[in-house]
Amino acid sequence: MRVYAVSDLHTDFRDNLALVEQLPLGEHRDDALIVAGDIADSLDTIEATLALLRSRFREVFYVTGNHELWVRAESGDSVEKFARILRLCDTMGVRTRPHRLDDAWVVPLFSWYDAEFDTYRDAETKDMEAWADFHFCRWPAGMESQCAYFLEMNRAHLREYDAPVLSFSHFLPRRDLLPPAKYLRFRGLPLVAGCAGLDAQVRALGARIHVFGHSHINADREIEGVRYVQNALRYPRDRGEVDTILKLIWGDD
Ligand SMILES: [Fe+2]
Ligand SMILES: [Fe+2]
Repeated sequence: MRVYAVSDLHTDFRDNLALVEQLPLGEHRDDALIVAGDIADSLDTIEATLALLRSRFREVFYVTGNHELWVRAESGDSVEKFARILRLCDTMGVRTRPHRLDDAWVVPLFSWYDAEFDTYRDAETKDMEAWADFHFCRWPAGMESQCAYFLEMNRAHLREYDAPVLSFSHFLPRRDLLPPAKYLRFRGLPLVAGCAGLDAQVRALGARIHVFGHSHINADREIEGVRYVQNALRYPRDRGEVDTILKLIWGDD
């Protein structure tokens, strides 16, 4: 089975939604797609986008990104919205838990970021109040670490698998997947980019490939035996013309 990957669809941008709508009907009926978070924050847009993808792929795997957990229009907190999105996925046949394809397992890993990820200690803190998550995410009282909260959810899935493992998360599992802060447009990004405990989970799974998103910096690199891939659609202003939004990561073309 062929497995494709994409992240950061941001289909609240009309041009991005059009690219998803243009995916051919029929061509991917036997294929799987990994969607590594950041579809949109509107539940309606998330649902409409997942429905488009479900109509084209045999299997769709998905984890939420940070944009999904913004609570602007709805009541409740970000954890409640997360649970709502998982229930929506269940009703749509979108997979948010490990599932075996014919020759590989796909294992979703939930995550968030924390400042400890910035092991280079080179992030700039001065513009952090502009980071939208700090305004639009609402966490339950007493929740100390979102990073630890989501990693804990993955723990039950850290086991031996009887076929090669393809794992994926929205956030970055390793600091070296992000350039030094001085090369970043937003130099505070290392503080809100990833979670180092995630890479320990990738390694515990023995994953062959790990797909991630969030930084909007595409990558395909092998580090210590694991292939790390990002194929982010990004925002229309940050990219040129796009031939296809899909990247084949497993199986033959
Ligand atoms: Fe994004
Ligand atoms: Fe993101």
